[in-house]
Amino acid sequence: MFNLVFTILLVSGIPVNDGKEDAHKFPANFLFGASTSAYQIEGGNEKLYGKGENMWDFSIKKNPFIIANKSNAEISCDSYHKYRNDIELLKYLGVNFYRFSISWSRLLPDGYSNKVNTHAVRYYNDVINLLLMNGIEPMVTLHHKDLPQKLQEIGGWTNPYLAYYYEDYARIVFTYFGDRVKYWITFNEICVGYGGNIEPPFLNQPEHAGYLCRNVILLAHAKAYHLYDQVFRNIQRGQVGYLIEGRWLQSATEQPEDLKAAERARQFFFGLQGNAVFHPDGDFPEVMKRRIAEISKKQGYLRSRLPDLSKEEVTFIQGTYDFLAVNYYSTVLIKDSNTTKDDVGVDKFQNEEWKKSASEWLRVYPDGLRNILRWVKDTFDNPEVFITENGFSDHGELNDTDRVSYLKLHLEALLQAIYEDKIPVKGYSVWSLLDNFEWMAGYTEKFGLFHVNFNDPQRTRTTKLSAKWYKKVIAERTPSVVDYY
Ligand SMILES: *[C@@H]1O[C@H](CO)[C@@H](O)[C@H](O)[C@H]1NC(C)=O
Ligand SMILES: *[C@@H]1O[C@H](CO)[C@@H](O)[C@H](O)[C@H]1NC(C)=O
Ligand SMILES: *[C@@H]1O[C@H](CO)[C@@H](O)[C@H](O)[C@H]1NC(C)=O
Repeated sequence: MFNLVFTILLVSGIPVNDGKEDAHKFPANFLFGASTSAYQIEGGNEKLYGKGENMWDFSIKKNPFIIANKSNAEISCDSYHKYRNDIELLKYLGVNFYRFSISWSRLLPDGYSNKVNTHAVRYYNDVINLLLMNGIEPMVTLHHKDLPQKLQEIGGWTNPYLAYYYEDYARIVFTYFGDRVKYWITFNEICVGYGGNIEPPFLNQPEHAGYLCRNVILLAHAKAYHLYDQVFRNIQRGQVGYLIEGRWLQSATEQPEDLKAAERARQFFFGLQGNAVFHPDGDFPEVMKRRIAEISKKQGYLRSRLPDLSKEEVTFIQGTYDFLAVNYYSTVLIKDSNTTKDDVGVDKFQNEEWKKSASEWLRVYPDGLRNILRWVKDTFDNPEVFITENGFSDHGELNDTDRVSYLKLHLEALLQAIYEDKIPVKGYSVWSLLDNFEWMAGYTEKFGLFHVNFNDPQRTRTTKLSAKWYKKVIAERTPSVVDYY
């Protein structure tokens, strides 16, 4: 270590932070990873493997036109069969950890706890064991969007009983796999289709279902966390993290009303997701409780549309984390508005000058990553952080210089967050290892470090420039690598 730092100093004359650490290099114990999720890569939907139907399978079967180019995830990257190949790719990159998710309906075909699919147990055991044999730490998301359809039919995440069924599912996952998995993330981006109509289950009820979903997710998360604490932690010695969808929300102007509106929007987004877990006082943010209660009353409701957390629930949820997981892609600008019909009362838009990606919602704004980390440090009691997703979409170019540029800028912002803002960031994981089934966008938007040929039955993987670059970044622990072509 000393030699490396010393050599770089001699060569580049880069100033050293505190005279000890090189602010262009990630700390020695910093962890690099790559991320995927089950539904987006596995395929393996054939009857003989025993996977039950989830709400994405169901919605796509019902109306194939909902997905761009009428595609589906029946085979996707076929990682159910090609996981050995994928682990080779991870090994090539030299990552410290691999973040993937377990498919609930693969493990418990009906969603309930009475029937465990032995094919699923074998599959996830194989993946975990092969990762460990290759020195790669598994980081497992318990649930990443793909709810078993039977549970969706009883209301999905608007039904408070889902918290109990999720606890049962978590117990089974910890029991089968927890002897080897040391990093768990309870949920990833679940409520999009409850508040909005842009993905299954298409409820489009931000004023009701959007809040109910957050409420039930918080309770389910806390149940799984306490279960781990009480039954598994002493023996398995892992960590359980809570994930926040982090789109940075930034005031569009320096006007006091817009600055105030931006902070309100952050409370309505990050606060709604995480205040109950990370804030020392717990519960939903005061500004949300007050505002939604007032608006609900004016609208003639007999109670606030934001479901109350009882005193017992507030206590039960508060502090249930070992780390904070943050997904960051882009930033949205906020202006105060008294004409919008939603509860938060803001206009949202992006700066047209920020560089575009292949995804309409993703424009490049690396400072947003630093800003969100500062915000959670100041608001949420300074938790340890993993960046669990960060990435750029294009149309599948192998010479993906735009992705390299995106990742480089964000890793530089992350270094500033670590060294200048003193934020305890433990690791960073790129979304995504592979081009994959990008939900409603099907295969039209590509995030992979590795290209996948979806027209080839073998689903051949090809190394992109970004994979070669990221390999070098990990080896040298700095985004300032030059000769990666
Ligand atoms: C909304 O804000 C504008 C500009 O600040 C103001 O002129 C207008 O009266 C407000 N409308 C309502 C309904 O409060
Ligand atoms: C990759 O793209 C960059 C930027 O467009 C270009 O300068 C470079 O020559 C390309 N490399 C290859 C191998 O095509
Ligand atoms: C759309 O579907 C067609 C036919 O399956 C396929 O050949 C084509 O590559 C797809 N396009 C994209 C962008 O996925």
